Amino acid sequence: MPGLYLHIPFCKQACHYCDFHFSTSMALKSRLVEALTQELALRADYLGPHFTLETIYFGGGTPSLLTAAELDQIFTAIHRHFRVAPDAEITLEANPDDLTAAKVRELAASPINRLSIGLQSFHEPHLQLMNRAHSATESTAAVQLAQEAGFENISVDLIYGVPAPDHSLWEQDLAQAFALQVPHLSCYALTVEPDTVFGRQLKKGAFRPPPDEFVARQFEMLLTEITSHGYEQYEISNFCQPGRESRHNSAYWRGVPYLGLGPSAHSFDGVSRQHTLANNPKYVASVLERAEVPATIELLSPTDRANEYLMTSLRTSQGTDLRHLSTNLGVDLLGHRADYLTYLQLNGWATLSADEVLTLTDKGKLLADQITLELFQITDFSD
Ligand SMILES: C[S@@+](CC[C@H](N)C(=O)[O-])C[C@H]1O[C@@H](n2cnc3c(N)ncnc32)[C@H](O)[C@@H]1O
Ligand code: SF4
Repeated sequence: MPGLYLHIPFCKQACHYCDFHFSTSMALKSRLVEALTQELALRADYLGPHFTLETIYFGGGTPSLLTAAELDQIFTAIHRHFRVAPDAEITLEANPDDLTAAKVRELAASPINRLSIGLQSFHEPHLQLMNRAHSATESTAAVQLAQEAGFENISVDLIYGVPAPDHSLWEQDLAQAFALQVPHLSCYALTVEPDTVFGRQLKKGAFRPPPDEFVARQFEMLLTEITSHGYEQYEISNFCQPGRESRHNSAYWRGVPYLGLGPSAHSFDGVSRQHTLANNPKYVASVLERAEVPATIELLSPTDRANEYLMTSLRTSQGTDLRHLSTNLGVDLLGHRADYLTYLQLNGWATLSADEVLTLTDKGKLLADQITLELFQITDFSD
């Protein structure tokens, strides 16, 4: 069930935590849309000749900066080169400041049937600290307007672990998100990336992230609240009402091939990964003037594929199928790491089912990165 990802690399302003690829200059926007339609043609066979797109995802950057005409241009090209399932999940990431009543009506009239709205917080000082382009009032209004326009499939992004005197603001953020009755939430712990304003401030001692225990407590609060509101944690940072998982992201985590278009996008065809150059002018020039997508190809070794499967599956509620890992990817964790697997279970960090599926407990999810790393090293040794 392959998916299509389109990266829209433009933002009104740079958020202080974000190291995704984007430009704050709109000068190349229409040329880049044209280049995306060309790339659709150039890479129509990337996933093989016989497939139907089950999901389409506009990510960014800020895809809600695309005009109705630009979206139309892209959809026309998609339908010219690909078959799209009639019930395809078509998601657009949107920023609250773009979601006016007119804009949501426009989006509702397009093929887009799922919105992922980047709220981050309902607390004004936190939005300002992060340099978001919207107010707390706009955060709430964006969701309500989208619902009024008929969008049922809505996800909101929130960030926790933001410096604060106590946990009350995070508690209020969660309460507000639940009050909006959105079927899907993505909640991320603030990470300080070196090449961002927060990263540079941290180096100079001008930004102090909260201690790990503070962030861990907020993650625990999140899990408690999620459960009491009837949501499922189907991936470490992703929560939904029953049946409302993101089909697009779930397919990534299951290792299903996908095609990613636009600068900085990744693609996966089952054996290799392709990384498109994260540079808007070079991408546009190469695609439009030379009909070439500037990209590097990384052939995945069996170890790479096993590591990727471990990294993604361990974060999901479905867990890591140790039989699949051993039979299809050549890594026998039960044989080589029996002691560590027992240690994880004795500490209450993971469970191992009778059919050999390893799943992290809530306590274990707090240590997901360390546990994955530990299993990674072993994978390398056994290769
Ligand atoms: C890259 S943005 C793209 C969507 C859209 N531009 C927006 O701002 O909502 C996707 C999400 O990644 C999360 N994110 C990006 N960088 C992060 C960081 N350093 N720490 C925590 N969350 C981050 C934010 O929640 C954001 O909504
Ligand atoms: S979080 Fe979203 S709006 Fe902010 S810089 Fe990153 S991609 Fe752009």
